Amino acid sequence: MCGIVGYIGKSQAAPILLDGLSKLEYRGYDSAGIAVYDGEHIRGQKSIGRLKALSELTHDGATMPGTAGIGHTRWATHGAPSNENAHPHFNEDETIAVVHNGIIENYLKLKKKLAEKEYHFVSDTDTEVVAHLLDYYYKGNPIEAITKVMHRVEGSYALGIMFREHPGIVYAVRKDSPLIVGHGKDGNLIASDVPAVLKYTRNVYFIQNEEIAVLSEDSITFYNVDGEEIQKESSAIDWDINAAEKAGYEHFMLKEMYEQPKTVRDTLNPRIRDGAVVIEELGMTDEEISQIRKIHIVACGSAYHTGVTAKYVFEGMARIPVEVDLASEFRYRNPILQEQDLVIIISQSGETADSLAALREAKRKGVKTLGIVNVVGSSIAREADKVMYTWAGPEIAVATTKAYSAQLVAEYLLAIKFAQVRGEITETEVRAYLKDLQKLPEQIEMLLSNKERIQHFANRYVSARDVFFVGRGIDYAISMEGSLKLKEISYIHSEAYAAGELKHGTISLIEEGTLVAAVLTQEDLYKKTISNIVELTSRGAFVLAVTNAGNTEIEKAADYVIYIPQTNRWFTNSLAIIPLQLFSYYVSVGRGCDVDKPRNLAKSVTVE
Ligand code: AGP
Repeated sequence: MCGIVGYIGKSQAAPILLDGLSKLEYRGYDSAGIAVYDGEHIRGQKSIGRLKALSELTHDGATMPGTAGIGHTRWATHGAPSNENAHPHFNEDETIAVVHNGIIENYLKLKKKLAEKEYHFVSDTDTEVVAHLLDYYYKGNPIEAITKVMHRVEGSYALGIMFREHPGIVYAVRKDSPLIVGHGKDGNLIASDVPAVLKYTRNVYFIQNEEIAVLSEDSITFYNVDGEEIQKESSAIDWDINAAEKAGYEHFMLKEMYEQPKTVRDTLNPRIRDGAVVIEELGMTDEEISQIRKIHIVACGSAYHTGVTAKYVFEGMARIPVEVDLASEFRYRNPILQEQDLVIIISQSGETADSLAALREAKRKGVKTLGIVNVVGSSIAREADKVMYTWAGPEIAVATTKAYSAQLVAEYLLAIKFAQVRGEITETEVRAYLKDLQKLPEQIEMLLSNKERIQHFANRYVSARDVFFVGRGIDYAISMEGSLKLKEISYIHSEAYAAGELKHGTISLIEEGTLVAAVLTQEDLYKKTISNIVELTSRGAFVLAVTNAGNTEIEKAADYVIYIPQTNRWFTNSLAIIPLQLFSYYVSVGRGCDVDKPRNLAKSVTVE
């Protein structure tokens, strides 16, 4: 996610802004910028790359005098990393400056309307639209302009705003993106997160959705979305800086698991409009979609596991043949690709060497390529013919969770789009699918709230030697990811198996007490998998079943059951994976492993 800071007080603002941004670097970013009111103008300075470049450019802020300013570290979502796209963004006469964290879902529509009113844009960002919209509504009263903008924009935002005509004030407003206000002894601050202000104060206000904060050198006033003044209580922060970077979570992985409802929402909502799937960045005509002969999905690790799920969804919903390959295999097997094929490369980092090589192999063979990528401007994002971003924000933990969940919903959207264009599903079915998709965030939240029960169960298996995950169809894909999560962060040996395959060898490994996680979310396969469970328990296995709410029949066969809420059969991976993530996390913690940085692993495998 992006990082926002703001300061107004007795000290020089620029050094404080740079220092605050440095405490937000953990949020991930690819460019940075600050704007300071110098007594006459709001001066901006931006740079791409590390924050160090901005500090050098401004001589640690010395070249930007003034005691009021806003700053930003940008994690690119709309528009590649560049000076033009870096924040702060300004209106045309530079009398308004804005920094933003979040996603303005209707920015293209607003941008079009503003362009019709002769507004000109210098960036590809959704944030610049906010700067011009504030300009459009500003008639001398900043609160009035801000509230009008709040009523027009859709999506998530945390905004820091300055108006040249109101030099002694920094404004802040948020909806669904984090923002806090710090009350310091020689000035007041805004920030995306607590670490940025801890050096100056532990006395903070947590702004609620659609509340506005107005900071002067020695006062802080709050307003609601109707422009009425409201009273707020401050809180004393007793976290240390390290805990604060994880927003109070013990590990980044846990924090990112809990961000999954938001990343699913952020990846879905901008692409669902009036009950239809709108994927502007796809750049494929209905004609081209209709002519796709075969889809090749290529990826590594967890991204590959989402690809295996996508195979079932594309083939089941859109009736398009799909082949899923591990990138390290695809790139060397001289794959048979034809002109009407589509190659989809899935990658969180967009830098995985094998996946990048697979992309280049597909392009060498003249086939259309689409990247489903999280890091904007990464190699795969840049080199694929088209890219569909998963707006999950930076993922710090080596073990992916929120990017995995965002990849799944991106693939579901693509399958729905393709199925509808190819006449395989009706508009009514599309609406039903989208309704189910938009329920996923709250269902994930509900599953995450179940963590104590899973933690208690996990503690029984911290000394396990072998753990197996089994399932059929999409449940097999879920098992693959559940198994990888466990082994990569707890170092316990684990394997995923197609449940029907156990009797062809693996079942010989089952001993008294061996833990087997059986995933049963595909109703038409319940009975088959239950018979596999009986095979397992009759040989001494302890079976944990993850299944749909209501499938109580399972309690006769399995030893321990975790239920997931009802959703469409194609989307169950998004829910069943949550308890498996939590299980792996708590086993790893129980074993004292380095959850966020497991041994031997890297967040992005940029070597073969
Ligand atoms: C998943 O938890 C692992 N970190 C790993 O399998 C990862 O999914 C794989 O290396 C692919 O990375 P990418 O998505 O960045 O290409």
